[in-house]
Parts: sequence; C-alpha cells; structure tokens
Amino acid sequence: MTLILGIETSCDETAAAVVEDGTLVRSSVVASQHELHERYAGVVPEIASRAHLEAMNPVIAESLRVAGVSLENIDAIAVGNSPGLIGCLLVGVSAAKALSWSLRKPLVGVNHVQAHLWAAFLNESVEASMSFPALGLVVSGGHTTMYRVDSQTSLHALGRTIDDAIGEAYDKAAVILNVGYPGGPKLDRLAQQGDASKIDPLPRSLLTPESLDFSFSGLKTALLYRVRGTPVGRGDKAVFTRSADDLDYVTRANLAAAFQEAAVDSVIAKLRRGLDAMVASGVPAKAIIVGGGVSANSQLRASVAALGEKHGVPVKIPAMKFCVDNAAMIAGLAHRLLADGKHADLHLPAIATTGV
Ligand code: KG4
Ligand code: ZN
Repeated sequence: MTLILGIETSCDETAAAVVEDGTLVRSSVVASQHELHERYAGVVPEIASRAHLEAMNPVIAESLRVAGVSLENIDAIAVGNSPGLIGCLLVGVSAAKALSWSLRKPLVGVNHVQAHLWAAFLNESVEASMSFPALGLVVSGGHTTMYRVDSQTSLHALGRTIDDAIGEAYDKAAVILNVGYPGGPKLDRLAQQGDASKIDPLPRSLLTPESLDFSFSGLKTALLYRVRGTPVGRGDKAVFTRSADDLDYVTRANLAAAFQEAAVDSVIAKLRRGLDAMVASGVPAKAIIVGGGVSANSQLRASVAALGEKHGVPVKIPAMKFCVDNAAMIAGLAHRLLADGKHADLHLPAIATTGV
C-alpha cells in the first residue's frame, strides 16, 4: 500500500489530501477563500497567496487527521507545481519541499491540468488504463483544452480556447447578470430555473468547420449586449442603456439558461469533432474523460453523458467534490508518476504556465 500526501495551492483553494494507491481517497480537505475574493468578484493573487500561507499547515494537519495517519505513515509528498498563480504555487511547493526534506520522503511535482483528468478515476474501481486512448477535456477557470490522452501522463492537445476559458466566461457572465460570487455555480443554478427558448439564441462559436479550438468571448459579449442593451460609444466611453438590475428575475434566469445552452452546445460540438478526429486518425477513443471546475456544471454533465451514449463511448466525469480544485487529484496522479520514476528534488520549480 502506498500513501501519498497531496498539496494544492494553485489558485484560491488551499487543499491537502491523503490518497491510497492512486485512487482510494482517505481524506480530501479543501479550504476555500471565496469569502476573501467575493467583494472583488474575482481572485486577487496577493490576497490568495497570503491566505494559503495561513491555511496550509492546518489543512495538512486536518487531512492527516481525517485519513487517520501520521506523517511517518506517508510514503511521498506530491504538490501541484504548475500551472497557476505564481505566488500561490510557491506556498504549496515550499510546504511540500519542507515536508519531503524533513521526512526524507520522495517529492513529486504534478501538473494541475493533467491532475484534473485523473479526478474522474478517484474512488473508482475501474483501472484507468482501460480507458486509453481517450478524448480528454479540461474545462476550468484557466483552461479549456481538448486532448488525445494516450496514458494518464501523456497528453496531446487537439485544441484549446483562443480567448477566454469557459470558466472565465461563466464568471464574467455571472458578473454581467449580477448573480454573485463564485459565478459559475451560481449562474448554473439560475440557468436551471430559466427557459432558454424564451430568448433569441446566443451565438455558438464553432470557428472553422474543422477547428478543434474553442472560443467564448463572442458569447460573453453577446450576453453583455442582451443584458445591458447596445452601448452608445466605444471602449472606456461606452454607455449602456440598462443593467441586470433593470431586468426581472425570470428574464435573468432565461438569459442565464440561454448562455448555458450556448456554452455547453459549443463544447459538445467540439467533443463530437474530437471523437471524429480520433476515428479519422485510426485511434478511436475508448472513453471521454472530463475534468476541471466546469465539469460540475449540470448541463455539461448531462450533455456529455448523452454524447457518450450516442457514440457508444463511456464517459468518465469526476464526482462533484473532485471537479473543482482539490489535492486528491494531485496525490492520485502522483502515484502514477512515482511508479514511472518521475520524482523531483528540492529544485522543483513553481511554474505559472500550462506546459500541456
Ligand atoms: O478547476 P477549478 O476549480 O479552478 C481552475 O483550475 O481554474 O475551476 C474553477 C472554475 C470557475 O471558473 C468556476 O466558476 C467554474 O469552475 N465552475 C462552474 C461550476 N462550478 C465551478 N462553472 C459552471 N458551472 C458550475 N456548476
Ligand atoms: Zn483547477
């Protein structure tokens, strides 16, 4: 049995988890900073880094307590070291290095985006390798990327967003509709109460007929104009005729539903193209693996399941608690990396950019 302590601090969640043999989650503790960032309607990097510093030790202690283990029982320390906000990553990486050095246990650096694709296998008995090659999709606040997944540690990007990530578009749409923070889940809830058919469809950006890339900024702007009216003037001088507060609740819910339908439709269209592209290249997907915060979205979950069923391809999507940032996915993937001999030393860097 291998027990790995995972640490995750890439954005606004301080997380630690203990995972047994890559998939069995013995504990997963997540301290969210939502309250600290709410008044800014977005994550303030410096505030986030400081909050990680305060939360890191108590969160690690809690993850050990819930797992019923002590540091001596841990076989390796894993940390999400890229991508993310650099000041935030540094807190987790420093904590992981200190533990690894003082306990003389291996240190493993984990790519956060790859880890999102591992989340679907947590607490699952199915052997992950049965799903490869797979069509992978990471939909989060920072990423919207589709991959050919050859193995859990070997991803080949097929397409990615050319502007906003889908989670970022959700968060901005939530500001436009004034639904509160965190935007994505609140917009999802409002959309479930609305009726998209009451609204002229919002645009689905599919780009060129063959493109596997995504685009969400046009959808976001279209929603802005629907909510506030066409502006008079341009740029900083643009003046809108109304705001979300001038619309009744039902209209706002209908607009949220129309936004959600357009966003999810375009993701599904790209997944369909991705499946076709893999068939055309002679490596049909054995599974569709989805991960990242937006995989918690109600309509996306239902639509991906329906797509998989239609194409006869099983869908792997994380349990709700493993969709958004967590450290169980970090510890889980680290088990695979460690088995491949990919452990780091005290030079392990924190890297802000994606790499995959
Ligand atoms: O994976 P994650 O926790 O952090 C990043 O790696 O970015 O994803 C956070 C993103 C946010 O943009 C959040 O609004 C979005 O996931 N999100 C959702 C839902 N739950 C979280 N978006 C749409 N519907 C949801 N239910
Ligand atoms: Zn994430």
